[in-house]
Amino acid sequence: MSILMTQGLRKVYGAGDTEVRALDGVDLSVGQGEFVAIVGTSGSGKSTLLHMLGGLDRPTAGKVFVDGNDIFALRDDALTIFRRRKIGFVFQAYNLVPVLSVYENIVLPIELDGGAPDRAYIGEIARTLGLESKLQSLPSQLSGGQQQRVAIARALATKPAIILADEPTGNLDSRTSQDVLGLMKVTGEKFGQTIVMITHNEEIAQLAQRIVRIEDGRIVRRGEA
Ligand SMILES: Nc1ncnc2c1ncn2[C@@H]1O[C@H](COP(=O)(O)OP(=O)(O)OP(=O)(O)O)[C@@H](O)[C@H]1O
Ligand SMILES: [Mg+2]
Repeated sequence: MSILMTQGLRKVYGAGDTEVRALDGVDLSVGQGEFVAIVGTSGSGKSTLLHMLGGLDRPTAGKVFVDGNDIFALRDDALTIFRRRKIGFVFQAYNLVPVLSVYENIVLPIELDGGAPDRAYIGEIARTLGLESKLQSLPSQLSGGQQQRVAIARALATKPAIILADEPTGNLDSRTSQDVLGLMKVTGEKFGQTIVMITHNEEIAQLAQRIVRIEDGRIVRRGEA
């Protein structure tokens, strides 16, 4: 059964001369527990698709179903709660809160939802990501790659059903990338998580169960490329 499904998804930015069709009719179905890599050139619509899948931005046309529910039929406040409970995001920009420590950033989504952090589990994530000695630091005191790992830890902390990751290893060396991907796969399997990950890295893409290629806002099916 598919946990994520899009129907005729379109997103148009701007109008007239500046109109950009970022997504031009995307039909995608992702199975429960599946690990999908999304690849495509810069500007092909990958981040736009990920934002729509997570209900961060409303499409111009088309629908997104999560667990069979049409998420854009929800009101904004209900959509926010749904997102917080179901989805872990790792953005291209890390979106860490500068005045909070690394630990506080990691547990923020849990606390926003009124939950209590699972300290042992968060310790395990921090260890695996090589962040144990940085938990009391501020994001500004970390390297880019370390900040990226904090963003990954934050996405994993709530044990979300779906992880949407935009270039999660973009700033990591290949050894650390493999480790981080390994962790995502292991936790994914352990918690039955579905992972949709954008990457430019062919080696990383090969770790996924399926590769979806996007060009000019459309999915390129095998044989059409
Ligand atoms: N907020 C916006 N306003 C106007 N145009 C936008 C906006 N966001 C994205 N676009 C345009 O939509 C298209 C798709 O952008 P998107 O960010 O989805 O690309 P991408 O595949 O993620 O690229 P990259 O690999 O560089 O991150 C691009 O032409 C981009 O310029
Ligand atoms: Mg992008």
